[in-house]
Amino acid sequence: MPSTLPDGDPAPPSGELPESALRRLGERPFGFYVHVPFCVTRCGYCDFNTYTAAELGPGASHRDYADTAIDEVRLARRVLGTADLPVETVFFGGGTPTLLPAGDLARILAAIDEEFGLRPGAEVTTEANPESVDPAYLAELRAGGFNRISFGMQSAKEHVLKVLDRHHTPGRAAQAVHEARQAGFAHVNLDLIYSTPGESDDDWRASLEAAIAAGPDHVSAYSLIVEDGTRLAARIRRGELPMPDDDVAADRYLIADELLAKAGYSWYEVSNWATSEAGRCRHNLLYWTGGDWWAVGPGSHSHVGGTRWWNVKHPAAYAQRLAQGVSPAHAREVLEDADREVERLMLELRLITGYPLADVAPGAKLAVARAVGDGLLEQEAFKAGRMVLTLRGRLLADALIRDLTL
Ligand SMILES: C[S@@+](CC[C@H](N)C(=O)[O-])C[C@H]1O[C@@H](n2cnc3c(N)ncnc32)[C@H](O)[C@@H]1O
Ligand code: SF4
Repeated sequence: MPSTLPDGDPAPPSGELPESALRRLGERPFGFYVHVPFCVTRCGYCDFNTYTAAELGPGASHRDYADTAIDEVRLARRVLGTADLPVETVFFGGGTPTLLPAGDLARILAAIDEEFGLRPGAEVTTEANPESVDPAYLAELRAGGFNRISFGMQSAKEHVLKVLDRHHTPGRAAQAVHEARQAGFAHVNLDLIYSTPGESDDDWRASLEAAIAAGPDHVSAYSLIVEDGTRLAARIRRGELPMPDDDVAADRYLIADELLAKAGYSWYEVSNWATSEAGRCRHNLLYWTGGDWWAVGPGSHSHVGGTRWWNVKHPAAYAQRLAQGVSPAHAREVLEDADREVERLMLELRLITGYPLADVAPGAKLAVARAVGDGLLEQEAFKAGRMVLTLRGRLLADALIRDLTL
């Protein structure tokens, strides 16, 4: 949930969607994202739409937020009509959702269930900072219907956590995984960040080994992105920290894939590994494979049937709109078929399932042949009619996608 909003067409105050979006509603998987825009402190690298003050005005403070979010769930039902729309996945992200009482998260989830119905076996995830939960809190989440949890571990090395402004001890994330398992969470993810200034190859190996030893069934590993306007960007500009190096990041990716594969984790998206298909994040797969989702919360981006819209950014403006019975949507865009195809290629090519050759635009065929020759796409999959990235292709995925979509 990046903190800057794009431009777009005006969104109607009713939240009403164009006919094209509602056509064939229910034929694609449907999910909910719930943004919780609060953190205790802001990490220097983070650009997400999050606030450290507990009091942000009526409806937007910690104590009121669940009711405001529930108002948007009820608006979603009015906008989407009475169509049978069982929810496949729900994902609470942030910010730090677990800064709110577990009962508040459970109430928002219950409202989604009441309005739409959760499909049996629905995946219900929350993100959590490792230091923000304890066994009692995790038990309450489980009782409230959550079955997956994603902890921001980032690193197991104290000096790396310090550069990232993280406040948990190096061992806290592993302990949190253990507590989540004890509470009955079937699915647990650890987020890691690599190529932080000051991190060595050995530090990164140690972080991966600590993550693997904790026994999650899913690991996400992201290269540190230096976002404009963050404290990290300012420190790099002042020369206090070196800029992360692309070659170092590529080496770290190779180390990640090697250690994770050895430990039984297979990649299924360029930055995501799981111990089995059941461990893959179904919510993210819904994003990446053209599903529909309603995103609740300030600054959140929704997508239904080729229409995308995004809410006003500040929690106070968001709450004010909902209190007045007005949609919090700030702007929207209706994607042209050609844009949807480009997006589809950009997302699906990053998945292990790849992208069908039959759907490649005629103008891109030469670039595809070149990519196979350069070892960026799997030969066998190519012969079987799909583009699937090789390990080298995963390292160069962004450049390849640029090549294919020019
Ligand atoms: C926005 S956070 C929310 C989760 C939770 N607040 C936490 O930090 O543990 C989701 C994940 O995004 C990743 N992330 C955020 N900013 C990033 C950046 N600038 N570069 C790379 N990864 C980033 C981190 O791994 C983080 O765990
Ligand atoms: S705790 Fe998570 S969401 Fe909050 S500032 Fe840090 S990385 Fe961003």
